[in-house]
Amino acid sequence: MISDAYILKALRAQPDGVSGADLARGMEVSRAAVWKAIEELRKLGYDIEATPHLGYRLVNSPDVLHADDLATRLDPSCLIGRDIRVFRETASTSDVVEKLARDNAREGVVVFAESQTRGRGRLGRKWSSPAGKGLWFSTLLRPGFSPRETTRLTVAAAVAMARAIESATQLKPDIKWPNDLLLGSRKVAGVLTELRAELDRVKYVIVGIGLDVNQTPSEFPSGLREMATSLRIEGGRKIDRASLAATVLRELDGTYALVRGGSFDALANEWEDRCTTLGHDVKIRVGSRLIEGRAESLNPDGALLVRTQHGRLEHVTGGDVTLEQ
Ligand code: BTN
Repeated sequence: MISDAYILKALRAQPDGVSGADLARGMEVSRAAVWKAIEELRKLGYDIEATPHLGYRLVNSPDVLHADDLATRLDPSCLIGRDIRVFRETASTSDVVEKLARDNAREGVVVFAESQTRGRGRLGRKWSSPAGKGLWFSTLLRPGFSPRETTRLTVAAAVAMARAIESATQLKPDIKWPNDLLLGSRKVAGVLTELRAELDRVKYVIVGIGLDVNQTPSEFPSGLREMATSLRIEGGRKIDRASLAATVLRELDGTYALVRGGSFDALANEWEDRCTTLGHDVKIRVGSRLIEGRAESLNPDGALLVRTQHGRLEHVTGGDVTLEQ
C-alpha cells in the first residue's frame, strides 16, 4: 500500500537518495504509483529531487504539519502520538479531542491544527492561534486517576514542554505554576487540562497545549505583545515546527509514562527546579477567593502548597498566580 509515512521515512533514512524501485518494492506497489505519491508530496511543499542514478532525494520539508510525516519521526512504541490528526483550521483542538473521547477513541490520539478560530486558554481566556506560527494541539489521556491526581498531568506536561523547548532551542524556560512556560518574563507556552470525571475516577483528560514558535513581535495581537513571546523572538531564528512537534510529543510520552508508572516524585523534583513560583510570596485567585502566602512546594498530587500568613498550609490546584515583588 502506498504510504506517505513510508516514503518520507525512507527519504530521511537515506539522505543521499532512494531509488524508485526500492520504494516500490518496500510498499509492494508499482514505480508509477511511487512517482504519483511523490508528486502529491511535492504539491504539499516537500522539495523532492529525482535523479537518474540516485533516485529520489528529500531536499527540504515544508513548514506544514503532516500527520504521516510526524508519525515517521516517533518511536513506534510511543503512546502519545500513536494516532495523529492534523487540521488546517478548527475551532479548538480540545473540542475535536473531546468528540473523539466521547466516541471512545484510544488514549494517545493527538490533534494538531495549523490555526484555531476559538482557541481557549485557562480561566476562560482566548488563545491566539495564527496559522502556521505555533504548535496548537491536544491529546487524549485515560490515566485511570482520581480527579485529585489529575494535576500531576499538568505538571508532567509542563516539564515535557520545558525539556522539549530546551532541547530544540537551548533556551531554558521557567515554569510558572501551574502551567505557564516563560522565557524571560514573557509567556511562550501554556497547558490547559480539562477532564470528565465520575465521583472518584477520571473518565478522560484532555491536555491542550499552545506553544508560540515563529511569530515576530508584530504578529502578536497588540494586547499580548508585552506579555507573550515566541521561540523565534527569543532564539533569533526560525524553528522547524515539524521537528519541534516530534520532540514535544516524545517528551510528553516520556513524562506521561513516568506519571503512570508511579514516578511522579522525580518529575515533581524537576518541576520544582524549573519553577519560578516556589519560594516566592504569591497571591492566587481561585474563583472569588484570594489566597496569599509563600509558595513552598508541590504535594504528591501536584497541588501547590502555600503557607499563609497565619501559618496554615493551603493546597491549591487551580487559579491565577501573581508573584509579589
Ligand atoms: C493557557 O495558558 O491558558 C493554556 C493555553 C492552551 C492553549 C491550547 S492551543 C491547543 C488547545 N486548544 C485550545 O483551544 N486550547 C489549547
